[in-house]
Amino acid sequence: MVTGIANIDERPVALFSQDPGVLGGSLGEIHAQKIVRVMEHAERGLMPIIGLIDSGGARIQEGVAALDGYGTIFRANVRLSGRVPQISVVLGPCAGGAVYSPALTDIVIMAKDRAHMFVTGPKVVRAVTNENVTAAELGGPVVHSQQSGVAHLVASDAEDALRLARQVLSYLPSSASESAPFSAPAPAGTLADIPHNFRKPYDVRGAIGGIVDLDSFLELQPKYARNLVIGFARMEGQPVGIIANQPQALAGTLNSAASEKGARFVRMCDAFGLPLITLVDTPGFLPGTKEESGGVIRRGAKLLYAFAEARVPRITVILRKAFGGAYIVMNSKSLGADAVFAWPHSHIAVMGAEGAIDVIHRRELTADPSRRHELLADYQSTVMDPLVAASRLSIDEIIEPSHTRAIVAATLFSLTRTRRPSFRHDNLPQ
Ligand code: HXC
Repeated sequence: MVTGIANIDERPVALFSQDPGVLGGSLGEIHAQKIVRVMEHAERGLMPIIGLIDSGGARIQEGVAALDGYGTIFRANVRLSGRVPQISVVLGPCAGGAVYSPALTDIVIMAKDRAHMFVTGPKVVRAVTNENVTAAELGGPVVHSQQSGVAHLVASDAEDALRLARQVLSYLPSSASESAPFSAPAPAGTLADIPHNFRKPYDVRGAIGGIVDLDSFLELQPKYARNLVIGFARMEGQPVGIIANQPQALAGTLNSAASEKGARFVRMCDAFGLPLITLVDTPGFLPGTKEESGGVIRRGAKLLYAFAEARVPRITVILRKAFGGAYIVMNSKSLGADAVFAWPHSHIAVMGAEGAIDVIHRRELTADPSRRHELLADYQSTVMDPLVAASRLSIDEIIEPSHTRAIVAATLFSLTRTRRPSFRHDNLPQ
């Protein structure tokens, strides 16, 4: 176990690294104590901590002393949560209960070539369930970046993983009581064309790229719950968190997985003082028995909760549609957004026009089906038009897409001195 401090971009950072060449990097009592010591140093000195993980897990010969060692590390992870950034870089095996230390940290990066994370390894799985599975199938980077959502980033190798850890830190303050580091402002990229036809999918990253500083967007969990895009970016040099519905995955609906993905990110940004920019284009929550029985009420509430409690500056832009509960959840004015803007062709309503008129004009349509077109047009102009939302202050302004970057940046600038407590809350795993 190698521990120490170093500077990254002229800021002190605490580190620990497991040496797989010594007893397989397994964790014994003193090994654990060294990790906790350096974590305490990070806590006292208000600096981020990066753990490089490559370990055979609890040192078998040490028995309960090794298990208690993990317990003290988990407790320290929780104590530091939301106070200083914690980054786990998994370079090799990370097995058994050991996986819970990375899971308690803010960002997990896995190296594609060697990293594995599982609570029970292939041999135990075979013995208990008769299932034959390889380590990669059980807990390789593909599993954790696409299915479990454990890994925020996958690196091509160890060197790339370390580069990514440094990049993540460039968006985060050294502690919750400081501001995130400013970079030199850069111009925005080109705003992609967004089709007016609501049924046409597009990649929302084309909108993000046209709003934030050129090449500043670092997407997190890009292959997990792809219907919600999250990541760090910069606006005129200031680090921000981006949350955006992705119309090209599940039509941009919110579901349980996307809600939890978004919730933890919103809470991390709030803990570390990163303003939030939310881009909305969603037809609502994904309907169906799978979602309802899977707990979309309980799990969707997490995103709602995260936005409603966030005290960082919060700006929302409605790009096309904002329907139903998903409109509210995606950082609406009623949840406390500082500013909500809408593009001219956007629609805001309880539900889409087709479904809405089937409910509210059922009798008229049964009597005369030819009135459908007229009733649709009437609903769109009297209920869904952003002017309706603007007239009752649900949105602050209808803006041209090409003005989005300038208006969001100016609003953000006006909120620069927003007061923030030195500690907001932890970053509870969810
Ligand atoms: C003690 C260990 C060890 C362990 C490896 N070694 N794991 N010693 N405790 N957990 C030792 C080996 O005996 C060997 O010693 C040396 O490390 C290198 O191991 P190899 O197997 O030769 O290396 P390699 O082929 O690279 O495989 C690495 C490995 C494998 C994938 C990590 O060793 C392995 O599967 N280890 C056991 C993993 C495991 O089941 N851990 C317990 C998980 S449960 P010599 O002297 O021969 O060089 C757990 C509970 C945590 O951790 C609970 C927390 C709450």
